[in-house]
Amino acid sequence: MPDLRWFVRQVEEVGDLARIQAEVDWDLELGHVAKLSEERGGPLLLFERVKGYEGRPVLASLFTTVKRMAIALGAPDRNSICQLARFWVDRTKHPVPPVSVPPERAPVYENSVTGPEADVLRFVPVPKLYPMDGGRFIGTAVAVVTQDPETGWVNVGTYRSQVFDGRTLGLQPIKGKDADLHIQNARKRGMRRMPVALVFGSDPLLFLTASTLFGRGVCEYDMVGALRGEPMEVTPGTYTGLPIPADAEYVVEGDLVIAEDELRLEGPFGEYTGYYSGTPSPKVWIDVKALHFRKGPLFPVSTVGRPITDTHMIQSLNRTATLWSDLEAMRIAGIRSVYCLPESGGRFIAVVSVDQKYPGHAEQVGMAVLGTTTGHYGVKYVILVDGDIPADDLTQVWYAIAIRSSPDRCELIKRGRSTPLDPGLPIHAREITSKMIINATVPYEWNDKPVQIQLDPAVEQQVRSRWSELGLSRFVTL
Ligand SMILES: Cc1cc2nc3c(=O)[nH]c(=O)nc-3n(C[C@H](O)[C@H](O)[C@H](O)COP(=O)(O)O)c2cc1C
Repeated sequence: MPDLRWFVRQVEEVGDLARIQAEVDWDLELGHVAKLSEERGGPLLLFERVKGYEGRPVLASLFTTVKRMAIALGAPDRNSICQLARFWVDRTKHPVPPVSVPPERAPVYENSVTGPEADVLRFVPVPKLYPMDGGRFIGTAVAVVTQDPETGWVNVGTYRSQVFDGRTLGLQPIKGKDADLHIQNARKRGMRRMPVALVFGSDPLLFLTASTLFGRGVCEYDMVGALRGEPMEVTPGTYTGLPIPADAEYVVEGDLVIAEDELRLEGPFGEYTGYYSGTPSPKVWIDVKALHFRKGPLFPVSTVGRPITDTHMIQSLNRTATLWSDLEAMRIAGIRSVYCLPESGGRFIAVVSVDQKYPGHAEQVGMAVLGTTTGHYGVKYVILVDGDIPADDLTQVWYAIAIRSSPDRCELIKRGRSTPLDPGLPIHAREITSKMIINATVPYEWNDKPVQIQLDPAVEQQVRSRWSELGLSRFVTL
């Protein structure tokens, strides 16, 4: 089963890995190096010497490019987010549950520290990314494992985690996220603490799937297995008993303190919108009980921050994929392609290309998007285009908005679920947002449709055959 080291090797083989051997400071410098490189489409970065953390390398910029996402997915021939999303939609139809291996066969247990020794700041090279961050954030490229105390459903989600001190860490599962649903069920049962594990490393697909909106009851381990075509290997956490990947680089186990009278202030953090999240606010937190790590462990980070970096690419891929899956599960005809663009944080704008087959079809698609697991949350604009325009051909999408739409065929929805991280809303009123369906399709029911200009086929053919003779092939390739 591929792990994070496999990914590094694959990327190095195609010459896309930069090993940084000069010492770099975890305090802002590391994050700034990564950000400047990522914004210019740079390579996978392996920081081999982090100040104060000898032998503890940091890996950054995992998924800043389509090429590296394709390598992680084992689909190197796919070269766009839409193509990778299509691969994802097809593979995830058949979940593959993990298999359990005994702890003695799990590399993650090569080193374990427990009790007062389990101080993450002693062992993990946690960066501080941005000047106004509330502190160092250990959880960026992280997979957080929790279990529903009612049903036993194990979920793996990516939620940011701030270091308060070496033995206490904040956690921010936003309202309604799967870990939050587990917390709500635990509170209903009078629990003040629940088991939690933070996973770093393992199959790089774990980070991609942990940051995906799969919906209730889905375990991301099954989705990694589905995408990879073989089961993940998990092993029981020695403190929590939760299943953790046997080949993780680092795992933190502990109690998630959920009692409302014990919450602690967390944040702010330089978020993927390009703005800081608001003032510090009360959050659940982790009382660290054990830390496990492999020999020569590799610590993965994401710089999050302003677009476009790996968070935006990740969200673009996984939201494109799950929105597409959601629409297919609704059995709506004519969906040609779907695209949640990285430029929109990978989630605020969704474009859907549809072959209309009946009056009101485009409208149905627009409303369906806003009702799906992926589309109901954080999507502010749905753009509908006809099937002749691929959803990711943004030049054509702009053309359709300009030429085929009319504002009175767009719909303004006044209230829908929002994200507290949306800087487009007032800072203290971010729970609910308005949404808009921009219908840039030609209405199906129009008998008198505008006639699109097409070239005369015979003349076009003739011109093509004379292209060189016309002296144009030097300038324009047909
Ligand atoms: C780098 C990164 C950081 C994220 N941070 C958070 C976070 O702090 N809180 C949160 O609720 N979602 C965060 N997300 C988005 C969630 O990972 C995403 O909504 C995912 O679906 C959550 O898992 P769940 O659906 O199992 O709840 C982050 C995503 C990425 C890629």
